[in-house]
Amino acid sequence: MDSMELSWGARCAGLAFFGFSLCLAALGVVLLLVRRWPWCSCHVCRAYLTGSWAREFTNLGDWYAHLLRQSPTGTVHVHVLGCTVTANPANVEYMLKTRFDNFPKGKPFAAILGDLLGNGIFNVDGEAWRHQRKMASLELGSVAVRSYAYKIIAKEVETRLMPVLDDAADRGTVLDLQDVFRRFAFDTICKISFGLDPCCLDKEMPVSELAEAFDTASRLSAMRGAAASPLLWTMKRFLNIGSERELKKAIKLVDELAAAMIRERQKLGVGGSHDLLSRFMASTGVDAHAAVDDKFLRDIVVSFLLAGRDTVSSALTTLFMLLSKKPDVAAAMRAEAGGGEKGAVTYEHLKALHYTHAVLYENMRLFPPVQFDSKFCAAADVLPDGTYVKGEARVMYHPYAMGRMPHIWGTEKDAFRPERWLTGPGASFVPANPYKYPVFQAGQRVCLGKELAVTEMKAVSVAVVRAFDVEVVGENGRSGGGGAPRFVPGLTASISGGLPVRVRRLHT
Ligand code: HEM
Repeated sequence: MDSMELSWGARCAGLAFFGFSLCLAALGVVLLLVRRWPWCSCHVCRAYLTGSWAREFTNLGDWYAHLLRQSPTGTVHVHVLGCTVTANPANVEYMLKTRFDNFPKGKPFAAILGDLLGNGIFNVDGEAWRHQRKMASLELGSVAVRSYAYKIIAKEVETRLMPVLDDAADRGTVLDLQDVFRRFAFDTICKISFGLDPCCLDKEMPVSELAEAFDTASRLSAMRGAAASPLLWTMKRFLNIGSERELKKAIKLVDELAAAMIRERQKLGVGGSHDLLSRFMASTGVDAHAAVDDKFLRDIVVSFLLAGRDTVSSALTTLFMLLSKKPDVAAAMRAEAGGGEKGAVTYEHLKALHYTHAVLYENMRLFPPVQFDSKFCAAADVLPDGTYVKGEARVMYHPYAMGRMPHIWGTEKDAFRPERWLTGPGASFVPANPYKYPVFQAGQRVCLGKELAVTEMKAVSVAVVRAFDVEVVGENGRSGGGGAPRFVPGLTASISGGLPVRVRRLHT
């Protein structure tokens, strides 16, 4: 036998062994599915599994809103997902405040997002969460960080966003406004959080490896959450195939780029810096023992990217989609901000813009950037509407559906009416009960970046409406005229195909 025959033999044996292992693994999956999958043929589960809901509804969220409106309690079960879905504010308050400790994120959620988020604030419960929350709220609440953040936002608006829009107005070109806002929000959150500028909204619109890897990783992580059984993705991860192989690659790239960012920050030194990463490093003393806590810092970097980038860009995108259908609202914002005056708007001026604040909240009522949020019920419980929830079952509250409930918003629930947020003779902005409007979550884990996000969105929207008329071209701004925009499934809502617009300068 020569060496060629030997290597062929070895290869065949290897292939046979691989094939046999694959068959065994597949058999294991089938047996586990049969044993663990809660088979159900009710109309809701059938529609979910076959995807037949898509015949009538544009987005899964629209279908959930329909089911929840029909339910007398505002709560439904999707048995095949082992999930209770609710749009009932009393249930939301019970989960997020009254029985907070019984409704943690839970281990299954931590497993779904664990590869991407690690032990970052979004993905942990108990002491690990409390510790990070305390540190993050100290930093995000400090006057020094707020004024540092505002300066960054104002500069990014003036030196990057406006020139890009000016250029598009001059050329008469069609621009994907969603892409522009994602670049804007990415630059801003990187500068605020890490003191580093990725220059994504430079005129040349460079490709950011980190932004792309991050997009892929969050999209594929969200796909895990939508799977009917975790066994499907855990098997794929074990075998390193398909979407799990792609996810692993994307996360590896995120890890490398986050590590480079941390090294860069460490090189620059943290003394006197106001970015969040430096302040975290300084307050945990890791400046001196960098290697020890690099994983902790990596998890902070990824969490803040997730928190601050796609949320803000999602809200700004849907805002301009709605304003394009409501020129009267854009005109009222312009009038409130000071007509056609040019120049930077101060922080104090922004704070006084109640009508604009109402417009932002009304936009996020209809299009919350985080459309749903899941908790795990630690020990069996009964929700205020009488729904029994088994221990370790998943409960989802659904801000997108809640914004479409007549019992919360009245019969005019579908209308874009900023006035519903204004009260009294001075037409002051008054926020709704946070459990009816959990767009920033509510209770003990309420969003820590809410004020920063509102400031950022006000600064952008006021600057843009004062200088430009923005017209959505094509199909993607369908919401006002009947059909809803189509969202890409993901951790944060983004419009499929982007938001193509044409901008026209209002003053020469
Ligand atoms: C329109 C913009 C935003 C929206 C709609 C929003 C919404 C939310 C939501 C729904 C959560 C709860 C997520 C969960 O636990 O599953 C959350 C948490 C959080 N957000 Fe925001 N967010 C926005 C912007 C920001 C910004 C700009 C930052 C900071 C730079 C930020 C920082 C955080 C942090 C640190 C948490 C974790 C809180 C905790 O678990 O205790 N957010 N946000």
